[in-house]
Amino acid sequence: MTVLVTGGAGYIGSHTVRHLLALGRDVVVLDDLDKGYASMVLDAPLVVGDIADEALVAKICAEYDVTSVIHFAAHKNVGESMAKPSKYWHNNVDGTVHLVDALLAAGVTNLVFSSSCSVYGTPEIVPVTEAAPIQPESVYADTKAMMERILHWYGVTSGLRTVSLRYFNAAGASLDNVIGEDWSQSANLVPVVMKAAMGKRPPVQVFGNDYPTPDGTCIRDYIHVEDLADAHVRAIDYLAAGGATVGLNVGTGIGSSVLDVVRATERAGGCTVPVEFVGRREGDPISVFADPTLVNSTLDWKPVHDLDAIIASAWRWHSTHPDGITE
Ligand code: WQD
Repeated sequence: MTVLVTGGAGYIGSHTVRHLLALGRDVVVLDDLDKGYASMVLDAPLVVGDIADEALVAKICAEYDVTSVIHFAAHKNVGESMAKPSKYWHNNVDGTVHLVDALLAAGVTNLVFSSSCSVYGTPEIVPVTEAAPIQPESVYADTKAMMERILHWYGVTSGLRTVSLRYFNAAGASLDNVIGEDWSQSANLVPVVMKAAMGKRPPVQVFGNDYPTPDGTCIRDYIHVEDLADAHVRAIDYLAAGGATVGLNVGTGIGSSVLDVVRATERAGGCTVPVEFVGRREGDPISVFADPTLVNSTLDWKPVHDLDAIIASAWRWHSTHPDGITE
């Protein structure tokens, strides 16, 4: 009864592994450590290798009695995906096909998939429901949409059941400050604001302050990484109880602006965050936040951490790990 976690040495993966272990579940991590860190899996068993290595996946399934999988392992840099698309098709899409073939051969049919709200592109209506059109605007986002479709067809043809969790903006660190995000690998808003607040980079460039929003800056749905981890465990349990394949928006339903994040950081750190207003970033939707009704009812899941808690945990983590994660 072991959960195989691919990409379990990465940011969201490691928080999920830790949550599984805290609940007494058996876990094995498969990660190639391209971007992940062995130190982040703490005392969970770690196999270093590739998701596309079917013989390795077969061996792990047999050795650990794997009954379900949480599949995080993927490249996730939107800009890089446009510059090197085949890297994304090979790893994210082809890698997933090899992984699932090996899982099915081993009789494993329950899979939780790490998807993204970016599959909706620029949503016409917010809050975004799962009925919104799937219209990815980058190679990265399209690999997530493609994988969701591929997993759907595996369901039709081979009995695989999948929960695709479409994350909104994951942020924060573990509340006990044991694991967190590697800010050297992320250009996402929260780590950038932390770095600027701590004088580790030039001012935060706020991409546009002339949007039709209350303070003129873009609105997103920031979700605490521990709330996300909890959603994964509930998704595993939902599948174990016979739940059907489904895609779920995992967000709080609350939109926060770029300046809300800056102000929350100033409250958490007792400092002033240097900002510079620059032009809009190409492709940025004005406002994206989730309608979490379906995930609330399907997984009986509700986020418990608000923006201040997210930012306070990020502040604690980054201020005590100013050089990022070092092995
Ligand atoms: C957030 C807001 C920026 C940096 C990402 C992924 C997407 C999905 C969700 C996973 C925007 C603004 C940012 C900066 C800024 N996740 N910003 N200055 O673009 O919402 O989406 O998370 O799959 O795929 O791409 O996240 O953190 O880049 O930006 O003003 O230096 O902060 O304009 O409004 P985004 P982000």
